[in-house]
Amino acid sequence: MKIIDEEKLNEIRTSVDIVDIIGSYLPLAPKGKNFFGVCPFHDDKNPSMSVSREKQIYTCFSCGATGNVFKFVMDYENISFLEAVKIIADASGIVLDITNHKSNFEVKYHDLYEMYNISKKFYQNNINTESGKKAKEYLAKRNINDEIIHKFEIGYALKEHDLLYKMFQKKGFETRDMLNSGLINKNDYGYNDLFYNRIMFPLYNLNGQVVGYSGRIFDNDDTAKYVNTKETVIFKKGELLYNYHRAKEAVKKTKSVIVMEGFMDVIRASSIGLDNVVASMGTAITKNQALLLKKLAPTIILCFDGDQAGLKATIACMNELVNIGVIPQIIRLKDNLDPDEFISKYGKDAFLEILDNPTNMIDFKIECLKNDKNLNNSSELANYVNEIIGELNKINDDVLKEITLKKISNETGLELDFLKSKITKRKSKTLVKKTNLVKRNKYMKAESYLLYYMLQNKEVIKKYERQITYMPTDRYRYLAREIDSFYHNYQTINVADLISYLGNNQMLIDTVGEIISLELKDDCSLEEIDDYIKTIREYNVNYECDRLTKMMNKEMDSEKKALIAKQIIELKMKEWENDK
Ligand code: UTP
Ligand code: MN
Repeated sequence: MKIIDEEKLNEIRTSVDIVDIIGSYLPLAPKGKNFFGVCPFHDDKNPSMSVSREKQIYTCFSCGATGNVFKFVMDYENISFLEAVKIIADASGIVLDITNHKSNFEVKYHDLYEMYNISKKFYQNNINTESGKKAKEYLAKRNINDEIIHKFEIGYALKEHDLLYKMFQKKGFETRDMLNSGLINKNDYGYNDLFYNRIMFPLYNLNGQVVGYSGRIFDNDDTAKYVNTKETVIFKKGELLYNYHRAKEAVKKTKSVIVMEGFMDVIRASSIGLDNVVASMGTAITKNQALLLKKLAPTIILCFDGDQAGLKATIACMNELVNIGVIPQIIRLKDNLDPDEFISKYGKDAFLEILDNPTNMIDFKIECLKNDKNLNNSSELANYVNEIIGELNKINDDVLKEITLKKISNETGLELDFLKSKITKRKSKTLVKKTNLVKRNKYMKAESYLLYYMLQNKEVIKKYERQITYMPTDRYRYLAREIDSFYHNYQTINVADLISYLGNNQMLIDTVGEIISLELKDDCSLEEIDDYIKTIREYNVNYECDRLTKMMNKEMDSEKKALIAKQIIELKMKEWENDK
């Protein structure tokens, strides 16, 4: 079932300019006919994403990401296609009622989400009962009031061992799904809730749906401080950041995001009015999470725990960010405190002041490098300088490099020019990638060139229909078919709308990107098109002849052999006639 018909979709798409929309997410600079920006979909350091006003699409020459305005918003915001359409429609004031729409993923795992919704309400209820009193007292001691409890949907799992299990049973959930949810365990005696007598902190996915929990002990300390739900199909720790969905809103104003280690720190930060905060939840930051941060805000501030483990986590996170071209700001808290403890001890204003004065990553690294060295010793000094140069060679910010080299020059007395000579010039990744994208033989070239012009000119599509029977390369053949069917539906061809038409067929959308990236000359004579078509046919004839020849060689019956030989000759003759 189509939720929105294509015409409406195209109306919404043409109501905006892709350059404005993408430009509202990241800086774009005009260059020739197109606009260029740093690609948010891979670890891009140079602007390799090109946005075409004329075609209303974007393509990244480095990673191949391609799409129209819907696809961009969808991938950038990690939302469904329809949600992206809704955002664009809203921006243009076009009314669209799709609020009740659920993605395929949500439908498929509906029961898992439902179990989390039910358990969340259950735990939330419990915290306001007599049994939940102690949990509330504990939270109050930690300056977490009712408003914050409500906002972060904090709950309480009662002391009994199977209340949730019984509730799920009554609602008719499958036992298998209960176990898959991570909320119910099986042991020798039967089924049990994973959580009992713990304060329950819901963990959310990027859209703000509850997909896991962390449960904290509060009235004894004989087991692990936090128990977490296991990873499930809907809960992948390395792909989430705690509080992402709220921070996303807050970041619109602050333009910066603060990263902490624990979700308790995030909750505490919220209690003093900071909502642009996310947590990595105790594990090392993954590349996936680093990319999420990069998309979230232009400024990233790392504010991990003040202890040695926090220092280690800071460095690991910093390196992960540098790898994707982001230079974070760093805050180190004194006395081994974590942000929550710091706020409790020194108060809101002291914390806000610290936030206002983060250290640049390079300065921070320099301090770290200096720490264990005696710079009066020549070889240690040499080490120190070399290590700084090494760090500078990893980043792409020329101004920051220059400033740092000046500082080092002043500090060590080494000539600035000498230091500069140690900086390696970065090769443009874009150019390297682009040339070795796909090695094309004569036939693939003909296919892809033909597709390139089919995307531009309906006359070429008509020619394809009349003369081509079959494109040998699978993805090209499928794309050609889709172009052809698009043309039949709309009597026109338009790449941006074709991308909507392709829906979530990622392979074909990538193929469109591959073809667009060929950047062939604008116009192409129909004779040239004929040449491409002829080449493709030649391939097909050769292929068929090969096949028949093999068959003929295997054939024992001489009459049948002659028949096949005749077929081969006919094929060749026909091709020869065509060529004339
Ligand atoms: P911390 O030990 O820094 O937690 O662990 P915290 O934020 O200070 O918590 P409080 O203040 O003691 O309540 C950071 C993160 O590591 C994970 C949790 O996700 C926590 O947010 N963690 C920690 C666990 O999963 N299990 C544990 O036993 C401890
Ligand atoms: Mn803490």
